[in-house]
Amino acid sequence: MVGTKGRLLMRASLSDLPLVLDNVSLRAGATTILEHLDLTIASGMPTLVLGPNGAGKTSLLRLCMGLAEPSEGRVSWGGRTQSAHTRRAILFQKPVMLRRSAAGNVAYGLAQAGCPRRRRAARTEELLDRVGLLDLAARPARLLSGGEQQRVAFARALAREPEILVLDEPTASLDPAATRHVEDIIRMAAQAGTKIIMASHDLGQVRRLAGDVIFLVRGRLCEQASVQDFFDCPSTPEAAAFVRGDLVL
Ligand SMILES: Nc1ncnc2c1ncn2[C@@H]1O[C@H](COP(=O)(O)OP(=O)(O)O)[C@@H](O)[C@H]1O
Ligand SMILES: [Mg+2]
Repeated sequence: MVGTKGRLLMRASLSDLPLVLDNVSLRAGATTILEHLDLTIASGMPTLVLGPNGAGKTSLLRLCMGLAEPSEGRVSWGGRTQSAHTRRAILFQKPVMLRRSAAGNVAYGLAQAGCPRRRRAARTEELLDRVGLLDLAARPARLLSGGEQQRVAFARALAREPEILVLDEPTASLDPAATRHVEDIIRMAAQAGTKIIMASHDLGQVRRLAGDVIFLVRGRLCEQASVQDFFDCPSTPEAAAFVRGDLVL
């Protein structure tokens, strides 16, 4: 039998990285959503997933989380095709808040992550502080602004101490000030060693955050490159057009 200590040791020794997609296709009925993707996502700076609406970004993130199964090919985490979700967390564009206080939402995340009850209050405070929301701990989460709710969602996700944090356009409906708060949290998490995989269609955001870029068009991988190469010498006409700010459909 594996006790708590054994589980912790196992957790510490197994990494979900690199995350590898090997000839992955995803279909829904007759529709091909993603086609023959070969990708390696390694530890380090954030990986930004770019592409026009409908390119398949959300679908790719769901595969990365293990929330969707490929129709063809293989997804693996640290060489394993089966990997528990415990070390990964995902945030969506619109955060889903429980009908509780901001602190209650974070405490729920901690409970889900297996944090012992006696440690939850202190950890909740720590996490709310990390996202700059300690003052609003007691406020009903659903009454917070969109940006504040997104920060609660980050605190809740960070409660799991994820090795991989998947973000699906987390700032798409936020104003610049709220976006800056969220980007600061992303930068902090990345610096603390969490691998960020994030969809965006904001080129400025990509310049500010990315280490490397995955560029999708109509379900196909157009480019995977360092952020510098992506902007300085895009290797496909679609990527070049996207970088210029032209409409890519
Ligand atoms: N379950 C599904 N069934 C059918 N089509 C889907 C399904 N999920 C996504 N799609 C289609 O796949 C394409 C890619 O969707 P999505 O991954 O959400 O792209 P993005 O996030 O880049 O906008 C879209 O054309 C979408 O309509
Ligand atoms: Mg999407």
